[in-house]
Parts: sequence; C-alpha cells; structure tokens
Amino acid sequence: MIVDFIRPHIVGMPPYQPILPFEVLSAELGIPVEKLVKLDANENPYGPLPEVREGLAALNDLHIYPDPESRRIRELLAEYHGISEESIVIGAGADELIDLIMRLVLAPGERLINCPHTFGMYAFDGALNQAEVINVPRQADFSLDIAGIEKAVMKYKPKLLFLANPNNPDGGLIPTDQIKALLKLPLLFVLDEAYVNFSSEESRWINEVQSYPNLVVLRTFSKWAGLAGLRIGYGVFPLAFVPMLMKAKQPYNVSVAAREAACISIQNVEKLNRNTALILDERERLFSALASIPWLEPYPSQANFILCRVVGRQAAEVKEQLRAQGILIRHFNKPGLSDHIRISVGRPEDTTKIMTALENME
Ligand SMILES: Cc1ncc(COP(=O)(O)O)c(C=O)c1O
Repeated sequence: MIVDFIRPHIVGMPPYQPILPFEVLSAELGIPVEKLVKLDANENPYGPLPEVREGLAALNDLHIYPDPESRRIRELLAEYHGISEESIVIGAGADELIDLIMRLVLAPGERLINCPHTFGMYAFDGALNQAEVINVPRQADFSLDIAGIEKAVMKYKPKLLFLANPNNPDGGLIPTDQIKALLKLPLLFVLDEAYVNFSSEESRWINEVQSYPNLVVLRTFSKWAGLAGLRIGYGVFPLAFVPMLMKAKQPYNVSVAAREAACISIQNVEKLNRNTALILDERERLFSALASIPWLEPYPSQANFILCRVVGRQAAEVKEQLRAQGILIRHFNKPGLSDHIRISVGRPEDTTKIMTALENME
C-alpha cells in the first residue's frame, strides 16, 4: 500500500480545513463570482492598491529567480518600522514562517503551547512537525488563562508559545501586562500580529523585539495590504535567530511578484491606511447592525472580522442559509465554538447585503 511509505504521524492527521476557492463555490452555488459576498477568510475587500497592479504589470524579471534574502523589501520594512533589516525574515505568508519556526525549534516530541480557540495553523503545523501540542484553552470570553499557561510551562517545559494578537476568531487583544508576564517564561514567544493594523497603536510589539531575548513578532501583507493571493508576510526575530532561519528556509520562498507587490505597498502606506480606515468605519457599522439582531451576540473586535454567538438557532444553519444566497461566512464545527459564526468586515454594500439576509432569516 502506498500509504505505508508515508510517515505515520501524517497519515493519522486530520487535514487543515481551508475555505473553498471562489470559482468552486460559484460553480457549486450557481451564482456568478462577482455576485458572491465573500466574508469568510478575513481578506481585504479593497484588494491591492492600483499602484501594485501597475507595478506587477510592468515586471520584467519574472524569468529570474528572486533574491533569496529579499533584500529590498527588508530594507523598506526596516525603514518603515525603524528596526534593523538584519532582524527581518520574509516568508510566503506568515503561514510559512509559523512552520519554519517550528521546524527550526522543535525536534519530534518536543512541546509547544497553543491557546485555543485560535488560529488553526499553530496546532496543525505542530502536528505536522511531530511536536506535542499542549493546549491551554482560553476562558469563555476568549481571554487567556495565564495561570494555566504558567502551570503548563512548569509541567511540560515547552519550547514555544504561539499567540495571535488580536486573536482569531474573536478579535480580542492580549493586555500589555499579560504579554509582559508571558515574556518572562523560559520559552520562545511568537506573537502573531496578522491583524494588528486594525487595532490600536499600543497593541503593537514589533519595536520591542530586540528588548527581549525570546520575542518573535509575525506580520502579513495578506489582510492589511490586500495581498493574500500573493502570499507574503514577515517576522521580526532576535538577531541571532535570523541566520538559522535563513539556512532552514527554501532559498526562493518568496516570488518576484509577491516581493514587488509588498515593496510598492510599503511605499504607499498612507493609501493602505485609507482602506484600513474604511474597514474600521465599516466594522463599527457592522457591529451595531449585528447587535440589533436579537439572536446574535457580537464580540467587540480589534481585527477585520466580528465573531458572534448565535442564540436560539443553529449557527451552522445560519451559515448554510447565507451561503445559499451567495453570502459566505465562517462557521467552526468545534466544541465550544460551534454556536458561533465569524463575519469578515467587507465594503458598505457587503454589510447591507448580509444584514438584509440576516434580518429576513425565518
Ligand atoms: C492569526 C493569523 N495568523 C496568520 C495568518 C496567515 O497569514 P498569511 O496569509 O500571511 O499566511 C492568518 C490567516 O488567516 C491568521 O488568522
């Protein structure tokens, strides 16, 4: 049997549940792509800047392998953040960096701490890397169980802690004093700031990395810059960690197109921030509208999505009813989360469409 050749821990792993591509959904639902309202993957509804589209069309080095060290984008990011370029590593999305960090740090059987409910890739990549994932669940309001994490660290001696700030799926922030307490733990603390551009300034830790020996901060161009389809993100690391990551990563992990799009985006931050401001305004409008539905309890969010508890009806059914109308949202079929739905913040017209559908739901 061919599977006998495969490493047993992978054979036994459940697959990651990604969202379906646009075209597949469109064919399944019989609704044209342009009529779908896609609020299921926290993408940026405004897409890339027009300057990025122009820059990509003008590229003339697509036949040449990309710079393995992504020098130009690292220089631009260093200048933008006021940090050293030697501390930055570029990945094919933050996802690649999550896996790379684990491959670099964890030998089979070594441990990482994960705090569900949260972004699924921490546990998924942990399993893929044959690590032991120690789950310290969050409280009912999604806040961290700090005492639980500290106890688990004493007991299991994990090497890594992954936390998203703001967290996915609820959009909540970790208070500063909790982050400071966690930084005292004897492990590498990876703070995933994928959504931080949608939250307050003081929630950002990227400039603190060199002040601690064990802090890593991850960022992505997927959400803020509308480049999810191009796959580019970055991490800021303690300086001594970077040469090791550079050694372990695939040499040409970031495509020429992704690198170009990211460089243009970072040179046009003001324009990106205008789109962010539109999303923040829309988040407010969507939140109030969702709160007015008697059977929904939205959680305040610092990200570009809103999680809602569904009371008195089936969350999975709400998702299905919206889907039949071409409105896509996320439902998680997990214990403790299965009565929730997550809605990405879209454009004003997307809010109008989803709210009309929710208000008219039988
Ligand atoms: C918390 C968090 N981190 C990272 C990512 C992945 O980012 P990227 O698209 O850069 O791989 C996501 C995507 O949904 C996310 O929710």
